[in-house]
Amino acid sequence: MTRANLEIRPLTPTLGAEIHGVDLSHELDDETFADIKQALLDHLVVFLPDQRIGPAEQLDFARRFGAIEPPHPYFGVVEDQPEVTVIEQDGTPDSDYNDAWHTDVTFRAEPAMASILHAQIVPSSGGDTLWSSLYGPYEALSPSIRDMIEDKVATHDYYNSFGETVLKGPGGLEKLLDDVRRFPPVEHPVVRTHPETGRKGLFVNRVFTHRIKGMSWVESDHILRMLCEIAEHPNYQIRWHWRPYDLAIWDNRCTMHLATSDFTGHRLMHRITVLGDRPYH
Ligand code: SIN
Repeated sequence: MTRANLEIRPLTPTLGAEIHGVDLSHELDDETFADIKQALLDHLVVFLPDQRIGPAEQLDFARRFGAIEPPHPYFGVVEDQPEVTVIEQDGTPDSDYNDAWHTDVTFRAEPAMASILHAQIVPSSGGDTLWSSLYGPYEALSPSIRDMIEDKVATHDYYNSFGETVLKGPGGLEKLLDDVRRFPPVEHPVVRTHPETGRKGLFVNRVFTHRIKGMSWVESDHILRMLCEIAEHPNYQIRWHWRPYDLAIWDNRCTMHLATSDFTGHRLMHRITVLGDRPYH
């Protein structure tokens, strides 16, 4: 195995890069993998177009980043590959859309460090995914706001996002009680230091972040909304239009994302999340 001659094309000054010259259907040598990992740390989300691989090869690749998260408590999984989550929408209003800004699984005490999404079926238009950097908005805060939130901690809650749907779904209250016992609210710093780059970024999102500790509900609601709004500014965003077999890897320690729900066709993605460490300020 020889080191691949990767072409890394940055897509915006803030985040996102395409990586060409790699074929994940062949085992990667350590140097090529290290180059991809470094590109992820530099660009926060990277896109590897046209990767003709199946779930088993996606898992092999994901394991190079670290241990894989156990099956997601809510989403479906690939048969015989329960660590591969199926994200699927059929274009009807009842579909499960991920169209609110979030960072994956921050309801866990040790949220995912990375997610690897592989497009299986995509609509001919729409169904794009947007990512936002969480470094830039933190760095752009005025010193007084930064001081106010610097050492704050917030609760993140599984129930916030999934509670009502689980309650109405198969297993109803029993499934919900079981999920809530497994995933009680957890606390994360509002400002997180990235364990590999040392850069600080915001670590709140609309879907799971519930309340900033030590603040009244009104204060917490307004400050969370302000931080999320800042982080959702187009200055910090990239948008990707999917083609079948595109593969995206993103760093959940410094990004949020959402998938648009603006299409009527079928969209099916395979997602693997890599275990992360406990966030710290
Ligand atoms: C996700 O929210 O993790 C999935 C994003 C997508 O389906 O594009």
